[in-house]
Amino acid sequence: MRTRVGIVGAGPAGLVLARLLERAGIDSVILESRSRAYVEGRVRAGVLEHGTAALLDEFGVGDRMRREGMVHRGIELRFDGAGHRIDLEKLTGRTITVYGQQEVVKDLIAARTQSGLPLHFDAEVTGVDGTTLRYVHEGVTRELQCDFVAGCDGSHGVTAASLPGGAVQRWERDYPFAWLGILARAPAANEELVYAYHERGFALHSMRTPEIVRLYLQVPPGTDPAAWPDGRIWDELRTRLGLALQAGPVLEKSVTPMRSVVTGPMRHGRVFLAGDAAHIVPPTGAKGLNLAVADVRVLAEALVAHYRDGSQQLLDAYSETCLKRVWQVQRFSNWMTSMLHRPGSQDAFGHRLQLAELAYVTGSDAAATTLAENYVGLRKEL
Ligand code: FAD
Ligand code: DHB
Repeated sequence: MRTRVGIVGAGPAGLVLARLLERAGIDSVILESRSRAYVEGRVRAGVLEHGTAALLDEFGVGDRMRREGMVHRGIELRFDGAGHRIDLEKLTGRTITVYGQQEVVKDLIAARTQSGLPLHFDAEVTGVDGTTLRYVHEGVTRELQCDFVAGCDGSHGVTAASLPGGAVQRWERDYPFAWLGILARAPAANEELVYAYHERGFALHSMRTPEIVRLYLQVPPGTDPAAWPDGRIWDELRTRLGLALQAGPVLEKSVTPMRSVVTGPMRHGRVFLAGDAAHIVPPTGAKGLNLAVADVRVLAEALVAHYRDGSQQLLDAYSETCLKRVWQVQRFSNWMTSMLHRPGSQDAFGHRLQLAELAYVTGSDAAATTLAENYVGLRKEL
């Protein structure tokens, strides 16, 4: 089998890339190791930056998002027992859309299937040899020859791991926190997202629909979700969030470690890395999915220029262009994480400093604008 662009992974990065290429008439094949049901059921991020939502609209997969997604004009930061609203729209002229990642993935898969273009589930790529992808589908090993490979296979993917030793460098940081997340059938306790800093640790109130909430608690890394029966989770959430949360059936519960990783360059020859395959950000600030989409926008533009007029220039600039944004987003996610989490060994001085930071961010328009412009999505040129 042969194609122009072989895409490894049907997460947001791979699916958005395929859609952008489809629009430009460039053929691609997506190989995804998991089943369609698994990919569509995986609960992850939920906040779409202004530009991400606009892109989904622009290429015709935004209808359900516009109907079911929730446009939020602000977020709340809570500390010292009081809530402080950051008015995103007033400060930036932009909003965010709360719509689950797996809903975005479902919409993109439906659009791909409707176009009748190749998207193979249960097709695990086992080796990337230059521009040849080796994969196993229905027990048979096959090969896909490509002009270019897009490694959109997430943080445990095979593409980056297949690159020759020394081809790329990794910069990493582990955080001494993890997030215990639940999805529950319960009414939202606030119309907007609430990020809470509390002596007992960070908590986040988010939602998927007005009847389904997504809630997170800071826990130590390596925490076993079984140590957190539902009753304990609801009590802890109420304490840290200071909200009258109504409990309901817990539909999903998991613990996610918090890490920062950057791989560079994000390209080796004709192999390009995008999304979590190239970088991971800690989730505070909701950037992972949005950053994946930002990468493939740059990649699609470069591939389109290449097939249109043979130009190499944007392909050559791909890694540098993406990494500029990646480091800005790492900076923001790191700052939000440090401001809102409670380190285990924290001294009273550190605690006071965090409160002062929060008071400044919510009290000064200049500081609030800094948070807001990053939260809704940085402009391309920054
Ligand atoms: P992924 O979504 O990981 O997609 C990669 C795809 O490649 C997967 O479908 C995988 O099955 C496939 N794949 C892997 N290996 C192979 C192979 N060898 N062959 C073929 N296919 C392969 N971000 C936030 O902003 N907020 C959150 O709350 C949040 N929660 C998260 C919770 C978890 C548990 C995780 C893991 C991530 C979370 N993130 C969150 C991050 C966000 O979801 C990711 O940044 C986003 O999914 C990145 O998209 P992607 O397409 O690059 O990678
Ligand atoms: C969600 C996740 C985040 O990491 C965040 O900062 C805000 C919301 C969510 O899953 O809804």
